[in-house]
Amino acid sequence: MTSSAGQSPGQSIGQSTGQWVASLEDLAREALPEAVHRYFRQGSRDGLAAAEATAAWDTFRVLPRILRDVTEVDIAASALGTPVQTPIAVAPTTLQQAARPEGEVAMARAVADSGSLLVVSSNAGSSFTAIAATGVRWWLQAYLTADRSAILPLLERASEAGASAVVLTADTPVVATKYDVGPSVWETVDPSWLRGNHHDGRASVPGSEKATDLGPDDIGWLAAVTGLPVVVKGVLRADDARMCVDAGAAAVWVSNHGGRQLDRTTSTAHVLESIRAAVSAAAQVYVDGGVRHARHGFTALALGADLVFLGRLPLYALAVDGDLGVRRLLAEMDADLVETMRLAGCHDLASVTRDLLAEPAEPREPH
Ligand SMILES: Cc1cc2nc3c(=O)[nH]c(=O)nc-3n(C[C@H](O)[C@H](O)[C@H](O)COP(=O)(O)O)c2cc1C
Repeated sequence: MTSSAGQSPGQSIGQSTGQWVASLEDLAREALPEAVHRYFRQGSRDGLAAAEATAAWDTFRVLPRILRDVTEVDIAASALGTPVQTPIAVAPTTLQQAARPEGEVAMARAVADSGSLLVVSSNAGSSFTAIAATGVRWWLQAYLTADRSAILPLLERASEAGASAVVLTADTPVVATKYDVGPSVWETVDPSWLRGNHHDGRASVPGSEKATDLGPDDIGWLAAVTGLPVVVKGVLRADDARMCVDAGAAAVWVSNHGGRQLDRTTSTAHVLESIRAAVSAAAQVYVDGGVRHARHGFTALALGADLVFLGRLPLYALAVDGDLGVRRLLAEMDADLVETMRLAGCHDLASVTRDLLAEPAEPREPH
C-alpha cells in the first residue's frame, strides 16, 4: 500500500487513530462472556511472558532521519515472494466463533479487504473452503500428530482449498497449563467451534494427539507431502532458527505463542535481531508477541522482521465489531505505520533499518 502525504488511512473512520485500538481489550471484555475473554487474554502459568511482551518493544527508542522525502510512503511487503499490501498480518488463533458466530469467515473477509495475510489455525471451526471463498490470501497453521499420517487429510483439505504455505507450530509438544478462576472456556463453548476441518470432529482418534517427537526432518516431510513452503513458528533461539532453515524452512517465526506456552520465556523483541542475523538472507523472519500498535511493528521491522503478526488484537476487534472491527484495526495499524515511517524519515520498508533504533532504554515508570 502506498500513502501520499495528506492522506491518512484510518483517520476517515471515526475516533482518533490509535485510541480505539488501545481500548480494544476493554471493549472486548464488555462484548464477550467472561470465560472467553479470559481465555483470549490469559498467558500460561504465572503469565510473566504474556505480561512482559509489550513492555519489551517499548524499551527501544527511535533515532529518526531528517531531510528525507516522505511524500510517498510505501508499506508494500512480500510474504514468501507473494506481494502483500502491508507487513502487518494476522496470526492463527483458535475459537474465533466464540468471538463472533461467523468466526474465521468474518476474520478472513476483513483480512482479504485489507490486502493482508491470514494464518488459519488447524483448530478453526469454519471450513477451509468457506474461509477461502472470501478471496483471502491464507496459510495453514498445523500441529503435527503423534502418528504423522493422522494429519494428512487436514493438510490435503487445506491445500485443495488454496492454502499457500504451512506454518508448523513447534512450541507446543503439550498445551501449557493455564490457571482459571471460574469455569474454563472449554466448559462453556460449543464444541463445533473447534476442529471443523478434522474428519473426527472433537473425538480423539489414536495417533491424533500432538507429536512430542518433532525434529528437523518434519520440516522436509511437511514440505514434501504438501508441496508448500514451510514456516516454523515458535523460534526463540538463533541456533534453532539456523537448524530450521538448514532443514528447508522458507521462514522462521519468532514467537513465544503470546506467552501461552512455556512461561518465563524471553520476549520476542529481545531475540529477533540475533535470529535475523543467524539465518541466510534468503529465509524470511517473522515475529509476533505483544504488538499493540504499529510503532511496535516499526521496531520489529527495524530489528529485521519481514512480517509482523497480531494475535489477540484481531480477536478482540472481531468480538467488538465483527469483520468491520478487524478491517478498522488493520486500517488503523497501517495508518499508524505510515505515520511512524514518515516521521522517522522512511519512504519504504527497505529504509526501515536497525540504525533507526537506539539501544534498548531502561524501563521507566510512566509519569
Ligand atoms: C486465544 C488464542 C489462541 C491461539 N491459538 C493458536 C493456534 O491455534 N495456533 C498457534 O500456532 N498459535 C495460536 N495462538 C498464538 C498466536 O498465533 C500468536 O503467536 C500470539 O497470540 C501472538 O501474541 P499477541 O496475542 O500478543 O499478539 C493463539 C493465541 C491466542 C491469544
